[in-house]
Amino acid sequence: MTTHRLSTPPSEARNRPVTPWWVDAVIYQVYPRSFADADGDGMGDLRGVTSRLDYLAQLGVDAIWLSPFYLSPQHDAGYDVADYRAVDPRFGTLEDADEMIAAAHEAGIRVVVDLVPNHTSSEHAWFQAALAAGPDSPERARYHFAEGRGEHGELPPNNWESTFGGGAWTRVTEADGTPGQWYLHLFDTSQPDLNWENEEVREEFRSILRFWLDRGVDGFRVDVAHGLIKQPGYPDADHSRMGMVTDAGEDADPTFDPDTFEPLTPFLDQDRVHEVYRDWRRVLDSYGHEPMMVAEAWVAPLSRMFRYVRPGEMHQTFNFTYLMAGWDAASLTHAIDRSFEQAGRVGAPNTWVLSNHDTVRHASRYGLADPSSYPAGITAEDEQPDEAVGRRRARAAAMVELGLPGSAYIYQGDELGLPEHTTLAAEHRQDPYFFRTDGKEPGRDGCRIPLPWAADEPSYGFSTPADDDGPASAAEGVAAPWLPQPASFRALAADRQVGVEGSVFELYRRLLQIRGELDLGTGTFAWSEHHDPARGVLAFTVTSGGGRHLGSGEPIPARTVLVMANLSTDPVDLPTGHSRALFSLEEAEAVQDGRLAHDAAAWLLMD
Ligand code: NOJ
Repeated sequence: MTTHRLSTPPSEARNRPVTPWWVDAVIYQVYPRSFADADGDGMGDLRGVTSRLDYLAQLGVDAIWLSPFYLSPQHDAGYDVADYRAVDPRFGTLEDADEMIAAAHEAGIRVVVDLVPNHTSSEHAWFQAALAAGPDSPERARYHFAEGRGEHGELPPNNWESTFGGGAWTRVTEADGTPGQWYLHLFDTSQPDLNWENEEVREEFRSILRFWLDRGVDGFRVDVAHGLIKQPGYPDADHSRMGMVTDAGEDADPTFDPDTFEPLTPFLDQDRVHEVYRDWRRVLDSYGHEPMMVAEAWVAPLSRMFRYVRPGEMHQTFNFTYLMAGWDAASLTHAIDRSFEQAGRVGAPNTWVLSNHDTVRHASRYGLADPSSYPAGITAEDEQPDEAVGRRRARAAAMVELGLPGSAYIYQGDELGLPEHTTLAAEHRQDPYFFRTDGKEPGRDGCRIPLPWAADEPSYGFSTPADDDGPASAAEGVAAPWLPQPASFRALAADRQVGVEGSVFELYRRLLQIRGELDLGTGTFAWSEHHDPARGVLAFTVTSGGGRHLGSGEPIPARTVLVMANLSTDPVDLPTGHSRALFSLEEAEAVQDGRLAHDAAAWLLMD
C-alpha cells in the first residue's frame, strides 16, 4: 500500500528551530460519532471526516486525533473495541479510513488515532475464547480472571471499584452452568481489562501499532495509559485515598503516597507500566515519519505525570492539571509554572488542553457562578451556566492556550464556542457512567453532541443524505442525530461563523495563523512584568526568532508577543509599545479607555 507521508515543514524559511512536528502541533480532536455524518443515519462517520477536511485546513490545525472508530458494540462509545484492525460499519470501512488518512495528508493534516490497550470489548474474540475455555487456560491468562472470596467464591476477589460506578469485578457462569471466576473491568462490565503481564498481549499490541503505522497514521492517543499494570495478588485498594487530579495544586490529591512514593491505587500508575511505553517507542522509532504517542494519564502530581514523557517513552501527555485550573489566574499560573518546570526536568514539550469528550465543555464551565468548578456533567436541575459569559471567557482562554509554547489540543466545537448541552433529558443519555451510577452522575453525553454545520438545515447540517444506497436518500431526508442538539447550536453553526468577522471560528483561525507565522509554539516563555495573578491578570511573553538564517546566515529579528488576559471583574492597564494587537473581542469591547476589559485577552506584538 502506498501511504502519503508529510515531510517536516521547512524550518529554514523562518529559521524555525528544527523540531519534530508534534513539539508545537495544534491537534484537533475529532469525536467521530458527532463530527459529520455523510450517510444520513444520524451518527458521524469517516467519510464525514473526509468531507470536512477543508474546514479543518481553513482553521489551520496541524493534526487531528480521532476517538475510536474500530469495530465495537459501542457500550462505551467505541472505547470498547471488538477488533482493533477493523472499522465499525457505523463509521465506514477500512477503505474509508485509508481514504481519510490520505486526504488528510494531502491537506497537510497529520492523523493520530486512539489506542485502547487497557481493556477490550467483551465481544472481542479473545474474551469470548476466555469465557469458553474456562479457568487456568491460556485464553483466560490474557485477562484478569480470579477466584472469588467467601466460602463459595461468591464475593469479588477484592474491593476495587469501577470508574463508572459499582464494583470492578463481574462473575461469569462457567460452561457447565455453575457460577465461576470473576473478571476485572475498571470501566463497564463490557470492558474486561487485559493482563499486561502476558507476553501474547504485548505482542498483539506491537502488531496493532504496526498495522496502523503501515496505513500511514502519525500517532496514537493512548487510552488509560496509567492503568495497564495491576499490582500482583490484587490487594485491596484504599478508596478513601484514591486520587485523581482535582486542581492545579501540585500536591493535591496525589495518586501516590508522598512518603513512600508507592502508588496509592494498586491499579493505577504502577512503575512497570513504563516498560510498555519504552517497548512501543522502539516500534514507533522504527518508522521514519516521526509518529508520536500521547498519554491519557490522569495522574497527580505533575512530577508523576511527566514520567510518561521521559526520554524513550511517550512524546506527549495531556495536561489535565491545566484543563482543570478553571478560570482563575492563580490556579492557571500555578499550573503553567509547574508544567514548565516538570516538562523541563524530563526534556519534553508541554501540551495544553481545555476540553475533551470526557469533560464538561469549558465554554459552559466558565459560565458557572464558580468558573473554576469542575462538574461531572450538568442537568436541567443543576445551575445553568451563563452562555454569554462562558463564551466570552472561552474566547480569552483560547488566546492564553494558543499563546503558550508547546502543543495545543482543540476539542471539536471549541472553535465554534459550543456550550455543553445542559438540559439533555435522561431518556437520551447513553453514557455507561450515567447507568452505572443509577443516574446519579449525568455522564458525558452533554459534551458529545453532534456538531452544527449549517444553521438552516435539519440537524443543523450534521447529517447529509447518502448519495446512493445508504440508509437515507435526499427524498427521505436524514435520521435524527444520535443525541439531540440544543437550540443554541443554531446560531453557532459553522456556516454562521466561517468568514464572519468577529466569530469564534475566525478568532481561532487568526490565532493559529499568527501562532504559525511567529513560531510561538517553539518560542521562549517568560512571565511579564504585568503578570499579577493576585489581581486576576495573566501576562506572559513568548519570544521566537533571533539568531541567523540557517541558509543565508542573515540575522533574523527576535519577535516577542505579549499575551495578556484579564480574569478579574475590572478593567486593567494595557501595556503600550506594540505594533500590532489582536483581541479576544471586538476592539471596542475589549479595550475601554485604553484598558483591557474584564474577561478579555490580547496578543500584543512588541517591537
Ligand atoms: C478514557 C476515555 O477518554 C473515555 O471516554 C473512556 O470511557 C475511558 N477511557 C475508558 O476507555
